[in-house]
Order: sequence, then structure tokens, then C-alpha cells
Amino acid sequence: MALKITVIGTGYLGATHAAAMAELGFEVLGLDVVPEKIEMLQRGEVPMYEPGLEELLRKHVAGIEGSTGRLRFTMDWAEVGEFGDVHFVCVNTPQKHGEYACDMSYVDAAFETLAPHVKGPALVVGKSTVPVGSAERLARTLAELSPAGEDAELAWNPEFLREGFAVQDTLHPDRVVAGVRSERAEKILREVYATPVAEGSPFVVTDFPTAELVKTAANSFLATKISFINAMAEVCEAADGDVVKLAEAIGHDERIGKKFLRAGIGFGGGCLPKDIRAFMARAGELGADQALTFLREIDSINMRRRGQMVEMAREALGGGSFLGKRVAVLGATFKPDSDDVRDSPALNVAGQIHLQGGQVTVYDPKGMANAKRLFPTLGYADSAVGAVRGADVVLHLTEWREFRELDPAVLGEAASARVILDGRNALDPETWRRAGWTYRAMGRPTA
Ligand code: UDX
Repeated sequence: MALKITVIGTGYLGATHAAAMAELGFEVLGLDVVPEKIEMLQRGEVPMYEPGLEELLRKHVAGIEGSTGRLRFTMDWAEVGEFGDVHFVCVNTPQKHGEYACDMSYVDAAFETLAPHVKGPALVVGKSTVPVGSAERLARTLAELSPAGEDAELAWNPEFLREGFAVQDTLHPDRVVAGVRSERAEKILREVYATPVAEGSPFVVTDFPTAELVKTAANSFLATKISFINAMAEVCEAADGDVVKLAEAIGHDERIGKKFLRAGIGFGGGCLPKDIRAFMARAGELGADQALTFLREIDSINMRRRGQMVEMAREALGGGSFLGKRVAVLGATFKPDSDDVRDSPALNVAGQIHLQGGQVTVYDPKGMANAKRLFPTLGYADSAVGAVRGADVVLHLTEWREFRELDPAVLGEAASARVILDGRNALDPETWRRAGWTYRAMGRPTA
């Protein structure tokens, strides 16, 4: 009989995982402790913007016309315990307030609440990004609290999905990592991922600590690549070089690769910044802090980018104060194709300029509601042209396709001065310069 799957926590990771499991043919029951989220999902609505997710959800959520009915949602833990052969724990692990360390309270609560309801043979699978050593501890929690005893087993199966590509990354993962302690656990995970593995996704079997580390190591590497190219951008600025050309040229070396070498205002979001900090904190606890001191530098290069963008804007306005100056900000989300503004470099820059007295007007294709909630005192416009109207300088801070397709001539009519600063190196300098704009970008020559 086909495995029955539950998904605990229906944020980015959980909602996508639940829909993907239904797409792979399993009966799925999702649980969240936030009633509004469950109500939305039951109606086939997604609580965030993620391309393709709503369609996938509506294809499977029970009660929606024409759906397979394989996906249901509940707030009842007993029902989840009763239903599942495999329970995926997908709750979030934010950064602790005032500390680098990861806040494990949601994961701990999920395990402590679920375990007493796991009464028969089941595999509980951790997917959340956690400090190494957590799985070992959670396995003990499960053993102590589950009436099923040894029949309730733990596995660790980190998730690598990118926002904006969550559905694609979940259905066609570039690898499946299975941290297991028994053949039974491995067999169950192979069954869950049979379709992607048959399509060629590598299946890597590890112990618990390695599985946990794969995730933090991967994100640390990605953060390092971005900060590396941003450090090169700083040098290019000092030496009058062009970091975009530099990245293209070094990227032709297959050992280096072209990806994740886009210089600009740096990385943000709900993962990379907090994951590298939690990793440093955990290494410290383990007595291996020296191994990760370089991540401190990665973090500081990254944070410096935001300040440098503010300084570039100040310079473009003549070098003095922002008081009385109008600044248009294109982009609020931490990356395009997402409505996520968590630790967004774009909003951070907008906020800094606003706090220094600038009149900032922000426009973002999908992130407006979240941005307004986080930064209610910034000005907002309904369109790019609206944001640019009367602006003394325009800042391009999130590389949405919509911004690449803007007509510089039309924007030039609206702006009070034709000065654009590209914080993502994503616009075509020639197109803008031809339309009479002063185009400046990070790590590139001025003209
Ligand atoms: C990341 C990891 O990629 C993913 O594997 C993990 O599961 C979760 O964290 P995500 O947070 O969705 O995914 O964003 P990602 O695409 O990695 O981008 C992170 C940030 O880096 C964004 O702010 C992006 O603008 C920035 N970035 C990315 C750069 O500044 N330059 C680049 O070359 C690439």
C-alpha cells in the first residue's frame, strides 16, 4: 500500500513539500498551528507568492472542483499521528533575538507535540535547517515520548529549495540527502523519492550529523561565492575594473562556474544570512569556531554592500545630506519572483536612506504588502513610473524582469533627474545611457 504522508508546518518549505508529495501520488495531510494558514490552504490559496505553487495546490486539495483530493489540511495532531506512515517536520528555525544561534523552539515543540500521537510504526523526517547534533537529540525525544517505542524512527532529510523555484526544486531535486540510522528508514525514504530518483536525482545516504551539515555547508558555500564576487567588486571599484566582465571571465573555468557570481548589494532572505550565523554559533559550541571564522568576513562583506549602496546614492545626489531629496527604489523583496522581504538588502537600503531624511518611494511587483508591513513609514507607489516620478535618483535594488523591460525614455520623462544606480548589475548600461541617463553600477567603471 502507498505510504501516507503528513507535513508539519506549512510555510514555504512545508506547503511546497505537501503539494509536491501529492503530485508524486501520495495521500497527504498537512498541519499548521496557525488557523488562518490552514483556512487559506483548504481553499487552495497560498499564503505567499511562489510561482506554480497555487496551481499545484489546487490540483490536489480535497474539496476543490476537479482536484485529485489527495491533499488535506488539519490542525489536529491526533489525526496527523493516526494518519501518517511518514511525518515530515518542516517548521522554521529563525535566528534567535539578539544572538547568532538558531531558535529551535518550533522544531522542539513540533517533535514534543507529535511524538505522543505516533502510536504505530512510522518514520519522522526532519527537514528544517538545524544546528548539527539536533537530530541525535530529537531521536531521543521521539523515543521517549512515542508510545510506538523503537517503531517510531527518525531520519534527517534537508531541503535545498530556492524561493521562486520551490516547486521545480522539490519535484526535481538536484540531490536527495537521507540521514538515516537503519535500512528500514533508507527504504522508506527511497520509496518517497522514487520518482525523482528514477528521473536521475542522486540519492546520498549519510549519518545524522552529515545530513544536517550538508545543508549549512551548501548555504555557506553559496554565501561565500556571493561575498567573494562582491569583494572583487570593491577591488574593481578601487582599480577601475569591471566586476561583471571579471565574473564572466573567471566563470568560464568550470571549476569556478558562472553561477552565484552576480555582484551587487548582496544576499538576504530567510536562509543565507541566518544560516551562516547559526553555523558559526554552533561551531563555537563544538569548539570548532576557528574553522568558520571566515564566515564572519563573508557576513561583513555582505552587510557592507548595503552601506556602500547608500553612499553611492549620496554621492549621486551631490555628496551631502539626503534631506529634501527624492529617492526612487525599484524592488523591495530579497530576490525576484518572491514576495519575501525578510532581511532584504533592497528594503534595508531604502530604510537607511529614509532614516537619514531622504524621501523614499518604493515599488515592487509582488512585495508591496510585506514591505508595507515591515516598513510602514516608507513611501510606496503602484508602479515603477509612479515611484520614479519626481525622483532625484533611481535605485534598482531587486532584479525583477519587469525592471529590465522598463523603457528608460518613459522613466526619464517622469524623473526629475536621469540618474540610475544599479544595485544588481542587471540592467543594460548602454540602453540607459543612450536614453540620456547617468548609469552607475557596483564594481563597474562609471562611463
Ligand atoms: C537559498 C539557497 O539557494 C537554497 O538552496 C536554500 O535551500 C535556501 O537558501 P533562497 O534564500 O531562496 O535560497 O535564495 P538564493 O537564490 O540562494 O539567493 C539568496 C540571496 O543571494 C538573494 O538575496 C540574491 O539576490 C543573492 N544573490 C544570489 C546575489 O547577490 N548574487 C548571486 O550571484 C546570487
